[in-house]
Formats: sequence, C-alpha cells, structure tokens
Amino acid sequence: MRKRVLSGNRPTGKLHIGHFFGVLHKWRDIQDKYDCYFEVADWHALTTNYENTEDLRQNIIDMVIDWLSVGIDPQRSVVFVQSDVKEHAELHLLFSMLVTLSRLLRNPTFKEYVAELRTSELSHKGKKSIDSAALLAAEDFMELMKKEYSPQKLENKDFVQVLRAKIKDRIQEGLFKALSGSEDELPYGHLVNYGFLGYPVLQAADILIYRAEVVPIGEDQLPHLELTRDIARRFNSLYGEVFPIPEPLFTKFAKVPGTDGRKMSKSYGNTILISEPPDSLRKKVMSTYTDPEKIRLRDPGHPDRCPIFAYHKIFNPEETVEIRESCEKGELGCVACKKRVAEKMIEYLEPFRRKREELEKDVETIKDILREGSEKARVVTSETMERVRSAMKLWNGGKF
Ligand code: TRP
Repeated sequence: MRKRVLSGNRPTGKLHIGHFFGVLHKWRDIQDKYDCYFEVADWHALTTNYENTEDLRQNIIDMVIDWLSVGIDPQRSVVFVQSDVKEHAELHLLFSMLVTLSRLLRNPTFKEYVAELRTSELSHKGKKSIDSAALLAAEDFMELMKKEYSPQKLENKDFVQVLRAKIKDRIQEGLFKALSGSEDELPYGHLVNYGFLGYPVLQAADILIYRAEVVPIGEDQLPHLELTRDIARRFNSLYGEVFPIPEPLFTKFAKVPGTDGRKMSKSYGNTILISEPPDSLRKKVMSTYTDPEKIRLRDPGHPDRCPIFAYHKIFNPEETVEIRESCEKGELGCVACKKRVAEKMIEYLEPFRRKREELEKDVETIKDILREGSEKARVVTSETMERVRSAMKLWNGGKF
C-alpha cells in the first residue's frame, strides 16, 4: 500500500515561482509514489480574509488552474476544496478540546500575525508622526553615508532605494516595539479573532482526517506539523490508536528570492508569477535588485548575494559555473546577465503558461474536477470520523 500524502495551500489567487519551487514541484513529482490528496484550504484563507470574500471563488479557480498547469494530475491525485468536505470542521472542533490556549498562543505564525496587527493598530494612533520621524532619520543617515562612506555606492539607484527602505523599516520597527506593551500580556486580544488562533488546529484536522503519513511543506509550516503530531499523540493516548504520526517532506530548493531580494511574497509586491507573460517577466527581471557592490560592468560581483544568480541556479543550472566566474571576475555585466536569465525563465515557464491558457477557457471542467475530488475525499474522511466517534465513545446517532 502506498503511503498517503496530504498537503494544501490557501487560495490567494495566481501562484508565483516561489510557490512552485517551494512545494508545488514536489507535489507534482510524488504523485506516483504516494496516494496524494491536495487541498484548497479556503477555510484557512477565511481566518484572516473573512471581511472581503469578493475574490474567494476566483482565487480558488486561479490557484487550481496553476496546480493543473504545472502537472498536478486529477487522474492520479485527489484535488479538492476543504469547505466541500465538512468532516474537516467536525474534527477541528473535537481537536480543539485537545490543545491548550497557551500552546496556541506560542505558535510562531500567530505571534508574527499579532505583531503585524499591532503595528497597523498603532498606525491609527500615530503612524504619520512615526513615519516622518523614521524617514527623517533615514535621510540623515543617507547624508552621513554620502559624506563619510563610499560615494560610488550611492550612485546606484537600486542600492539607494533598498538601503533607504531597509533603514526606514528598521527604525520603524524599533519605534513600534518601544511603544507597544510586553508580549506576554494579551493586550492584542481585541485585535485577533478566535478562528485565527485555531488555524493550526484546523490544519491538524486536515492532515489527520486522511490519516496521512507524509506532509510535503515549506519549512515555515513545521511548527504547524509539530502541533499536528502532538494532537495525534494526545488523541491516541486518550482514546486509542486512530492516527499515524505524520512526517514532513521538504524540498531541495533554497528559497526563491523576490525581485527586491526579500522572500518572494504577494504582500511584498515582489513576485514573478508562474503564468507571468514574457514581456512583464522581462521587465520584472530587468528591474530586479542586484549585488549593490557591483555598479559598473568591470566591478567584481558577489553572486551569492544576488537574486539574479539565484534565478540562474534554478532556471539555468548548466551555465551557473561560468556565470559565477565571469561575474566575480567583472567580465559579465548585470544587464547581460539579467537578459540571459529572463529568456531561460520564459522558456521554462512557457509550457505552464500555455496549459493555463487552455484551462482558463473551461472553468466548468475545473469545478467538475473539484467536485469529483471532494467526493473521493469524503470517502476517506467519513471513514476516519466513524473511527473517531467510536474511539471517543460519542453519541454518533445512537449507532453504538
Ligand atoms: N497553512 C498552509 C499554508 O499556509 C496551508 C495548509 C492548510 C496546509 N492545511 C494544510 C498545508 C495541511 C499542509 C497540510 O501554506
């Protein structure tokens, strides 16, 4: 028997190449090795985006089209929508008894999100003044740099832009921290909803309801898998062995940097889509941040600090040795280097884009695929729930 895999993604619309090299390519490659279930985690998306649901349906369709266009195959894998399989909600509720509040409050994703919310709450109070103070400080610093540091560096527009943003962020961060209370209290209780606190509990239900043994995820999801494992152990020890303890499956690719050098993320506006049209891909690559110390062609570059080199490693592995050498020797200029990688990226992504265009013409088929997938999913989830209700000695319609 093949081991069962469950993984999912929140539907945020069209996916970017960070998604693809983060986890999607792994899904694609394991479809024959495992019995795969791939979930559109639309309830998870609601935990933060419950106010504006206008785009939810289109986001689901857009994401699933990307899945299919890179080779997730509904003939071999079960592709389904979480909210079509109501048993996830039932198991989530039962699991919510098995986890303490403090365990959830310690969850890193929760802490980060709360920190963000508190920042934006502060924004109502005094963001403008903090903002201008931070900007002033940044400008002061720039002046200082100009006078006292290496002046050539400051002629590089990209470098200046990134530096300014970095300085501003850092100062802002400091001010916000200074203005907010201690992290151990719950002064943010009014900011965050009950559903979001339970996000990882719902994720545990997603995984365990399929009795999945393997979960392909990015590293950022590891704390959620740890909680899943804890819940499975706790359930098994209280009520009897129902759940296997699932293992993570990581990908070999390093993180794909965004066009500004930070982590690629929709919220930073630094993404390159899997379905990026060639012209806009070229534009994005040409304006991508590069090694700030390489200003002129002849300057030696530092490929390991350059997002463009990271793209070469992924999309153009045959030429990376040569590119590293000629960049470090100051023989290869950034413009030429960018042009080369852009064409490789276009070539690599072309089949996905084609497939997407084809799939977009027939949204009804996408809906059918998801309906069929949800039906297949329910076969497993209803079986698991029977076992859970029986192990827990629940009422279960008087069937006992
Ligand atoms: N939390 C995951 C993410 O943000 C999405 C997700 C929901 C998931 N349920 C899951 C991932 C179950 C793996 C397994 O990417």
